Amino acid sequence: MPTSAEAPAALRVCDLTAGYGAGTVVKGVSLEVRPGERLCIIGPNGAGKSTLLRVLSGLRPPVSGTVSLLGEDVTHAPPDLRLRRGLVLVPEGRGIFYGLTVDENLTMGSVAFPRTQELENRERVLAVFPVLRQFRNRLAGLLSGGQQQMLAIARGLMAGPRVLMLDEPSLGLSPQAIRELVASLEAWCAAYGTAVLLVEQNSSVALRFAQRAYVMARGEFVYAGDTAAMAADGSLLKYYLQ
Ligand SMILES: Nc1ncnc2c1ncn2[C@@H]1O[C@H](COP(=O)(O)OP(=O)(O)OP(=O)(O)O)[C@@H](O)[C@H]1O
Ligand SMILES: [Mg+2]
Repeated sequence: MPTSAEAPAALRVCDLTAGYGAGTVVKGVSLEVRPGERLCIIGPNGAGKSTLLRVLSGLRPPVSGTVSLLGEDVTHAPPDLRLRRGLVLVPEGRGIFYGLTVDENLTMGSVAFPRTQELENRERVLAVFPVLRQFRNRLAGLLSGGQQQMLAIARGLMAGPRVLMLDEPSLGLSPQAIRELVASLEAWCAAYGTAVLLVEQNSSVALRFAQRAYVMARGEFVYAGDTAAMAADGSLLKYYLQ
């Protein structure tokens, strides 16, 4: 248990198991994201990364284990309650509304919150994603892939998360678009201290962005360590990600 002087973990997951029907996909996973920390989970196709994030956001029930958010047990809480408590998922494939404008998409990110908070968050979000300000009235479907991913993250940030979970944000983007996206995210984290749980197949992006990493394979964490050490030892990644 944390002492009174110690802040609770932003997100704590203990021995979480989940799956689909009889198939177990997440097998006894434990992790902790500290306040303001940038953590990544890397792993190959089908490792169970997206399933884990779906369970953490409340979209799928766990079979066993616990999830706590800022010291509060949310294992059985519905997704909207987790969102209002500060846990936001930007899903694989973005999930933005292509037929709505950038501004309208941003509004969708803050429907659960008071209007004053919406206005304040919109200003903050547009300050770190200036290209979205430039295209506020453009339909999301007309943006480039990189801009659409920025919009997906910006919409998540409209909820003012304490923990932002990102599922493969670099997928399909050019190196330049990834650099811009990461720079905006870093600016946001530096300004507001939001903790990030980043899931990636692209280990070089993840290891540059995050401070700590878990490697997930076949539903389990098979390695955990500081990203600097992992980046320095290429053979480690090759071994776990093959
Ligand atoms: N809706 C579903 N119903 C049944 N099985 C599923 C479903 N979604 C995923 N799975 C299975 O669960 C396993 C883990 O999938 P998951 O999408 O969590 O992996 P992932 O690590 O996110 O992979 P990727 O890197 O390809 O996104 C896979 O074997 C997949 O086929
Ligand atoms: Mg996935």
